[in-house]
Amino acid sequence: MSKSPVKLRSAEWFGTADKNGFMYRSWMKNQGIPDHEFQGKPVIGICNTWSELTPCNAHFRKLAEHVRRGIIEAGGFPVEFPVFSNGESNLRPTAMFTRNLASIDVEESIRGNPIDGVVLLVGCDKTTPALLMGAASVDVPAIAVSGGPMLNGKHQGRDIGSGTVVWQLSEQVKAGTITLHEFMSAEAGMSRSAGTCNTMGTASTMACMAEALGVTLPHNAAIPAVDSRRYVLAHMSGIRIVEMVREDLRLSKLLTRQAFENAIRTNAAIGGSTNAVIHLKAIAGRIGVELALDDWTTIGQGTPTLVDLMPSGRFLMEDFYYAGGLPAVLRRLGEAGRLPHPDALTANGQSLWDNVKDAPSYNPEVIRDWDTPLVPDGSIRVLRGNLAPRGAVLKPSAATARLLRHRGRAVVFENLDDYKARIADPDLDVSADSILVLKNCGPRGYPGMAEVGNMGLPPKLLAQGVTDMVRISDARMSGTAYGTVVLHVAPEARAGGPLAVVREGDWIELDCDTGRLHLEVSDAELADRLATWAAGQQADPADGSGYRKLYVEHVMQADEGCDFDFLVGRRGAGVPRHSH
Ligand code: FES
Repeated sequence: MSKSPVKLRSAEWFGTADKNGFMYRSWMKNQGIPDHEFQGKPVIGICNTWSELTPCNAHFRKLAEHVRRGIIEAGGFPVEFPVFSNGESNLRPTAMFTRNLASIDVEESIRGNPIDGVVLLVGCDKTTPALLMGAASVDVPAIAVSGGPMLNGKHQGRDIGSGTVVWQLSEQVKAGTITLHEFMSAEAGMSRSAGTCNTMGTASTMACMAEALGVTLPHNAAIPAVDSRRYVLAHMSGIRIVEMVREDLRLSKLLTRQAFENAIRTNAAIGGSTNAVIHLKAIAGRIGVELALDDWTTIGQGTPTLVDLMPSGRFLMEDFYYAGGLPAVLRRLGEAGRLPHPDALTANGQSLWDNVKDAPSYNPEVIRDWDTPLVPDGSIRVLRGNLAPRGAVLKPSAATARLLRHRGRAVVFENLDDYKARIADPDLDVSADSILVLKNCGPRGYPGMAEVGNMGLPPKLLAQGVTDMVRISDARMSGTAYGTVVLHVAPEARAGGPLAVVREGDWIELDCDTGRLHLEVSDAELADRLATWAAGQQADPADGSGYRKLYVEHVMQADEGCDFDFLVGRRGAGVPRHSH
């Protein structure tokens, strides 16, 4: 017996021969849409984050055009719509500040419109989680298409990576080993094609996470933005979303607990960004999957980093694609028995394992063999202790091994302005064994949780040849950055976490083996300091109005994914009442 066809949401708008149907159809017809388009075709939204202010997504009109071709070929009715586009490179105070705002835009745009399924055009860091969060809260059939990474950067005859080279060269300028002119000349060579950052930064990581979660077609993560196969993938995704609507393959059938466990393991294997910890938690919260910070330890621990990409390693996303891309990595995990849930369903209707079990691999330098990994255990470390009662994270693949167990005296910066004012002071009382502590850069403190956790080292130490130090903050770190950097300390300083009361000269112990982050002061002394701190707090007038007020009042801490407390959960695709 054949299944009855899925009832389309869009029929609530276009499917009636009455006053309401007239109104919904008539205004759409001003775009030259013939009557037969409204006769039961699945209406597919193309949710577009195109913007010239989001350079990583500036090629998305072309991408959308190829998605549209696929939708039409499969018998769907494509409708493209814009949503807030938060580009990492331009947006202040941070793109993270508006991730949740964009997700609201996505959720309400989908639910309020005659949309049966949606293609999410994602690229720059925050656009991927924002669109997945918004779509997850509606829970319609959805497939993500990433914009793809830029071609390898080129400078003075060698490959340079987005972001990573900026950190490297700016430190060299400060250390006096290169000139300012040499530094500036790398600018044009770093970003020489359309696309997202070509390192395993947050955009590439989130594209890999989307593929591992099963919400994209295979190979979505790594095909370069300007490679014609990116546009083939967009076309095929357009075809597939129409089928997904007919199969009622909603996000909740893909975004299961099993899918998130696969993604966590994948993150370790690719040497992915710490930002994924926050974004996966937020996406899971929207779809109703329980995900704890400690899952990153229990599920990820012991997984080698196989992908030799900057910032942890040597190569770039273009090389990664030519070497086999994410399917080759997932196959390695599966063959080692380290893919937790090979049977997890993916957007093409096949299991994750079916998609990757025959995936070829072409370059063992870029995608290492299981026995010769880049890092033996690349899982993100979750740290806890009296300095981070609700946790903190560190990415060992980007850190210096000898600093993963370290005890040092704190050099404390109260905020980013304080850091900028004093870091270059030749009289700063700091040595290579000190621990740099930066406060008030968390979700509420900055606000927007700035990517400054990898704060630059004191120039006087750089000049001595020091290349890494332990750094601790409530900030995030760009996925393109590196160093022995403890991030996401929760609760943040602004919310009264113990980080707020660390003092100059305090001893701090970091032990990544045991996951310990300890401030060496007594419980009584710590309680005393916190009480004094709380008594001295005053409201910041800048938090008193506008979107910032909403943000500061409702953003949750890093261990909870920095979503707004009132946005957590799946509110479904119920059709709102009409107003005619
Ligand atoms: Fe957009 Fe890196 S700045 S992907």
